[in-house]
Amino acid sequence: MKTTLSIIKADTGSIGGHNRPSDVMLAKAKEAMGVAVKSGLLTDARVTFTGDDIALLMIHDKGTDNPDIHKLAWDTFVATTAIAKSQGLYGAGQDLLKDAFSGNVRGMGPGSAEIELEERPAEPFVVFAADKCGPGVFNYPFFCSFADPFHNAGLLLAPEMRGGFTFNIMDVNYTEGDRVISLKVPCDYYDVATLLRDPNHYVIESIVENAGGLTAAVASTSRLHNIAGKYVGKDDPVAIVRTQKSFPDTGEITSPWSLAHYVLGNNRGSHHVAVMPVKQNTIISYFDGPTIVTAAGYCVHEGKLTEAVDIFDQPFWDMIREKASQKTLEMRRQGFFNPAMGPQDEMEYTGVMENLKRLDEKFVVRKK
Ligand code: 13P
Ligand code: 13P
Ligand code: MG
Ligand code: MG
Repeated sequence: MKTTLSIIKADTGSIGGHNRPSDVMLAKAKEAMGVAVKSGLLTDARVTFTGDDIALLMIHDKGTDNPDIHKLAWDTFVATTAIAKSQGLYGAGQDLLKDAFSGNVRGMGPGSAEIELEERPAEPFVVFAADKCGPGVFNYPFFCSFADPFHNAGLLLAPEMRGGFTFNIMDVNYTEGDRVISLKVPCDYYDVATLLRDPNHYVIESIVENAGGLTAAVASTSRLHNIAGKYVGKDDPVAIVRTQKSFPDTGEITSPWSLAHYVLGNNRGSHHVAVMPVKQNTIISYFDGPTIVTAAGYCVHEGKLTEAVDIFDQPFWDMIREKASQKTLEMRRQGFFNPAMGPQDEMEYTGVMENLKRLDEKFVVRKK
């Protein structure tokens, strides 16, 4: 049986600044998902939030890029925006960058990641949702999970993965269309590394196993700045990763997150901090951050989801959260000096550029 997993998320307004959506908004999103399950459009659904973003996990049999599924997500976000406005919440409709829906949420603001799959007898997968960062947040951990035996012991131990994986990587600074490259590990390992080292420019769109051609992972790639032409909030990406058997096991998928790697995001989308792996439905606090990521594990069978296992809700991650706080605080001590504040071309606000332009006119070239 073919099943599609669609995760679509958006920031449509939040309480107390960019901190979390309201309960009424979440109830509305759940109600909309419930109606869609009853009508038969979806076979199952879940609503979660990560910081100020609402994520809709929709299970159905309509394939990827289905206009009815995308319209359902868009209409749901329009409805939660209306509630946010009626409650006077901050940034109501923030991620809905276009006025009229035109068949697909891609390029319109919401982040989306979808996989159509032939259900295996057991179909485990993990949904990641991050807040206060760009889609490149997945570069480091996914590279490690799919290409590095330091994290993926299965590359050595499990014959099913010997063929390696293909990384489909997108140039997110190209705005005329989708500019992508496909590279295989292990043979193109250094080329993959060369691109992924710059997570603000090149991001993973999907990962496919070489032996069977099955899609293992998909991630949202939208950069709101490039859609809107100005800062309208950070991209706050989502991803789906299938696990076990010919894919990395769930533990190999979580392993790299223990680094709490540095990414650009946090306050005003313009600061480097350590990503903190957190429990489902965690809010935002310190310096409009820290940048957070949640991971929900599920199995799907005949289109129906199990309950979620909240993967970062385990004592091991308490220590990692502590480490992430310390790494973030250490960077924050440096304030606005690079690399604590991001590089000029990644500045989400125009203030620095405007100041530099003004100051540039006052520079003089000293005569010898
Ligand atoms: P199983 O032997 O139960 O498949 O477990 C393998 C595994 O995923 C351990 O990491
Ligand atoms: P969001 O993209 O999560 O709304 O955050 C915006 C921001 O600038 C926080 O300081
Ligand atoms: Mg926001
Ligand atoms: Mg957000």
